[in-house]
Amino acid sequence: MAERVFQIYSGEQLTAEMVAAAAELYSRSYGVWGPGAPREGKRIRISARQLCAEYLSHPRETLYARAVVDGVLAGQVLCTRWPGADGRLVCWVTLLVVRAEYRRRGLAAALLRCVQSDLDAVYGLLSPNPTACLAAAHAFGTPLDRISLEFIATNAEAVLAASPVPRLRGVRLRGTVFNAATPGSLVAGADTQFFVGRSELLTNLHLIEDQYAWPLGELPPGHEFLLLVPARDRGISPPRPFVPQPVD
Ligand SMILES: CC(C)(COP(=O)(O)OP(=O)(O)OC[C@H]1O[C@@H](n2cnc3c(N)ncnc32)[C@H](O)[C@@H]1OP(=O)(O)O)[C@@H](O)C(=O)NCCC(=O)NCCS
Repeated sequence: MAERVFQIYSGEQLTAEMVAAAAELYSRSYGVWGPGAPREGKRIRISARQLCAEYLSHPRETLYARAVVDGVLAGQVLCTRWPGADGRLVCWVTLLVVRAEYRRRGLAAALLRCVQSDLDAVYGLLSPNPTACLAAAHAFGTPLDRISLEFIATNAEAVLAASPVPRLRGVRLRGTVFNAATPGSLVAGADTQFFVGRSELLTNLHLIEDQYAWPLGELPPGHEFLLLVPARDRGISPPRPFVPQPVD
């Protein structure tokens, strides 16, 4: 049986070698650029330097978890936290990737559970990949068919406006829940100008739709789905309304 080891680090603990390995895994496994991208058909790659700039700009507020299976770096997640109401936190998943050979074994869901904290009030994710949304919804305790579009509509803008990450703060929300004109039938998402290859994502979406009522609609090119769920009661207290507080 394979040996799975999950390791969790704060952004401040990451060494140059760990960041280089994280960039290598991302570049090997994330996917390919799609129509609309200058490098259509080519692998989406990131350098260690870009990874630091884009995902580790707030190392103290960032958590990195990785899964090592039989000695191979098989998957990783990065999330950044910022304050919400009552000192409880927003936990935003900024990067999630599992090596292709290790997918569909529950690694993404397990990694997402690794970064959870009892102080979290709300979990969020922007992703063009419906499988990432499914994994996050399940890992964070809200099955796909119980996602509240009203919760997303009410909270997404304020949650993102309070983010210390400029890329998230400036995101352009799109979809019917935000009453924002969007091509196609997107329900909750954002126009991020991220033109990722779509064929695998559409196949995943159809597979997911065979099992679940998919709540977030269809994704126009250059957009990502937006998932936002309240932290579930983990035996401490019931979920409360979320009131974000801006940070410096
Ligand atoms: C998205 C990704 C991280 C999922 O990793 P994974 O380890 O295969 O996911 P898991 O095995 O934990 O599966 C999570 C859920 O998705 C389902 N699932 C996984 N792959 C699926 C697929 N191709 N089609 C349909 N459902 C799928 C699983 O059955 C599971 O559902 P369940 O909770 O009902 O059991 C992985 O596919 C990946 O790295 N993709 C490329 C990078 C990417 O798009 N990242 C997201 C950007 S934030």
